[in-house]
Amino acid sequence: MDTPINVFSDWAQNGKDEGMERHHNKSVMNMIDFACSGLPEYSFIDAGCGNGWVVRHISNDSKCNCAIGVDGSFNMIKKAKKLDDKNKYYCEDLLKWKPHSKVDIVLSMEVFYYFENPGLLIKHINNNWIKSGGRLIMGVDYYQENEASHSWQKDCGISIMKLHSEKEWKRFFENAGLNEVKSWRNDQDEEWGGTLIVTGIN
Ligand SMILES: C[S@@+](CC[C@H](N)C(=O)[O-])C[C@H]1O[C@@H](n2cnc3c(N)ncnc32)[C@H](O)[C@@H]1O
Repeated sequence: MDTPINVFSDWAQNGKDEGMERHHNKSVMNMIDFACSGLPEYSFIDAGCGNGWVVRHISNDSKCNCAIGVDGSFNMIKKAKKLDDKNKYYCEDLLKWKPHSKVDIVLSMEVFYYFENPGLLIKHINNNWIKSGGRLIMGVDYYQENEASHSWQKDCGISIMKLHSEKEWKRFFENAGLNEVKSWRNDQDEEWGGTLIVTGIN
């Protein structure tokens, strides 16, 4: 068993980060559509951005006036910076980092369950990263109702992976002070619960 940061640093080196980009794409596009369509202009942070593929994608939207990626893995951020010299990337622990200016949208895909207490992280992001009226949107494939994901901690050898139910994830958002909290599943079928997406407004 190794820490999430060490495991994903290896993934950045052996090219497995590109698999995440392919597998997460559909759900991330669903999250972006929900969060960004209809906004005249917005600033954006990807929390746990991996190799930065979401930041690169969103920065091509003419309505996006600032796109930032944050990840704790040195190798992921090194790769993101190599692929993109237009946007900003920070190698930081999400629980400690704060942006210089708050943003309209914070998105995070497949990251929050690597934290011992996701509620603390969600509160930190809501208090310190998001403008009043801005939105947090999160996607996770590893959750209680998605039984197909339950073996992942063993399969990947990751020391911290916290399995929570949809109800518990929504409760984390509500307890962090987010409003209009809602959730849905994207891209589910008979064997796959789909990505659990949870969102709320600051
Ligand atoms: C499953 S990957 C998802 C990456 C990206 N969101 C994507 O969809 O391709 C999880 C990411 O969370 C990052 N991560 C895990 N714990 C972290 C922490 N405490 N602070 C910052 N990043 C962290 C890892 O380095 C890794 O890049």
